[in-house]
Amino acid sequence: MLKKNWKVVLLLLVSLSFIRVTSCNKNESATDGNELQKKIDEYNRSNKGLKDYYTSDDYFYIGVAIPPSFIDNQRKVALIRRHFNSITAENDMKWSNLQPTEGIFTFANADKIVAFAEANGMKVRGHCLCWHNQVPAWIFRDGTAIASKELVLQRLRTHITTVMNHFKGEVYAWDVVNEAIDDGSSVYRNSQWYTICGEDYIIEAFKAARAADPDAKLFYNDYTAIDPTKRDKIYSLLVKLKEQNLVDGMGLQGHWNISYPSTNLINDAINKYKSLGLEVQITEMDVSVYTSNSDPQSAYNDNLAQQQSTAYSRYFEAFRSFKDVITGVTFWGLADDYTWLDNFPVAGRKNYPLLFDVNLAPKAAYFKVIDF
Ligand code: GLA
Repeated sequence: MLKKNWKVVLLLLVSLSFIRVTSCNKNESATDGNELQKKIDEYNRSNKGLKDYYTSDDYFYIGVAIPPSFIDNQRKVALIRRHFNSITAENDMKWSNLQPTEGIFTFANADKIVAFAEANGMKVRGHCLCWHNQVPAWIFRDGTAIASKELVLQRLRTHITTVMNHFKGEVYAWDVVNEAIDDGSSVYRNSQWYTICGEDYIIEAFKAARAADPDAKLFYNDYTAIDPTKRDKIYSLLVKLKEQNLVDGMGLQGHWNISYPSTNLINDAINKYKSLGLEVQITEMDVSVYTSNSDPQSAYNDNLAQQQSTAYSRYFEAFRSFKDVITGVTFWGLADDYTWLDNFPVAGRKNYPLLFDVNLAPKAAYFKVIDF
């Protein structure tokens, strides 16, 4: 009987402590919620934005990639003006947008973005002159045959020269070549550019860019540029370009997630690129809340918010420690209502990778980034 009672008491104690833990967690998250609300209230009373905490003199330019439609949305315009001093066209400076048909250049959308940036005193990063994606098929065709190397290189030079002349004095930096390095065991990506031209297309692209606008900063841009194997391949390419004074900076896209990459990977990569005397920019930053393709869709809950805040805080701490070499940090998107990650790498899986939520309000991660 006594034994039985003890069991009941024990059970009671266990359940009581469980209730305490859960209610304590509830209180904690309620406190977090109150804290966040307080910060948002303060944010709403102020005008300060990312660019004011990270001034370009002391730190780096803070950029955002946008489609032209954002310019017609007053709330988005207000958010962009408050936080950013650098603009990238999300798609409108890519080859398929600028020269979909040979010899016919379509600058209207890109011009709209540049005019917006100029009217608001923002810099413009050009993205991108030569890539294997979002390129029209005609570049690599000669009638029904595959185009010769000479023809492809001539088209490449014409494109780069025409585009850079058009934006001369307006675009201060260009991603000249994007994603040319292979993710696997080869050095170079097996793109149509590469199969027809070999590595010469990369060198020729940079030569054409340097000749077209000697004042523009020329970047090589890639993803997973912190992975040691890929980093070392990129480094060797940069050495070749640097020897000929063809490159000024390395662009790390920065499509990262809440746990990857480690701070060591970031530090080692930036140190390596820095050792070549290059500027470094984070050109397409977003921090996915998923760490694998098999993670199921989730709501943006407290747990994810916390992990994302910690990750953003860690990434910006690293950036600040390299303020001597990092000249820009650009986000690939403005707020969680519109992000390519909703459809990549898993179609239709809602993601929340940016500092502003689906209603354009600052997230906990935002307050971590400005808290230094
Ligand atoms: C790459 C490109 C960008 C953009 C993103 C995803 O990183 O460099 O232009 O297309 O993919 O949208």
